[in-house]
Amino acid sequence: MTRINVTVDGVKYSDEVEPRTLLVHYLRETLGKVGTVVGCDTSNCGACTVHLDGRSVKSCNVLAVQADGHEVTTIEGIGSGGELHPMQKAFHENHALQCGFCTPGMIMQAIDLLKDNPDPSEHEIREGLEGNLCRCTGYHNIVKAVAAAAKAGE
Ligand code: FES
Ligand code: FES
Repeated sequence: MTRINVTVDGVKYSDEVEPRTLLVHYLRETLGKVGTVVGCDTSNCGACTVHLDGRSVKSCNVLAVQADGHEVTTIEGIGSGGELHPMQKAFHENHALQCGFCTPGMIMQAIDLLKDNPDPSEHEIREGLEGNLCRCTGYHNIVKAVAAAAKAGE
């Protein structure tokens, strides 16, 4: 076992983990952050996307020990004071989800995308989200939501 010290959604944690523990399993099973989901476990679907020091990563593709000394933000940490994050609002207002399984990862990826490119074209949005799969929506409303969040200045 190895001890890691990590800040998750603004709270400091210190835990013993096995060196092979994936970050997504640490988040879900040790910390109870079940808003971050596992869709494939093979780094294809993006459902497990979180931010590591502010940049999106697929948390099934990162070891918990790699987060030692770093800051992780999950979908559960982006709203503030009971208010949805503007990207969450945009997804809600644009009906950008059906089953919702891809949504946490999609939102975390979309936030990172706008950090790099605050005014993306439709093509750039699609390209920025290409690592995140959605089996329900056909992506149209997801792209609309990200464009709306960009327009709103998120
Ligand atoms: S669960 Fe991580 S990419 Fe699918
Ligand atoms: S809303 Fe169902 S997978 Fe995207």
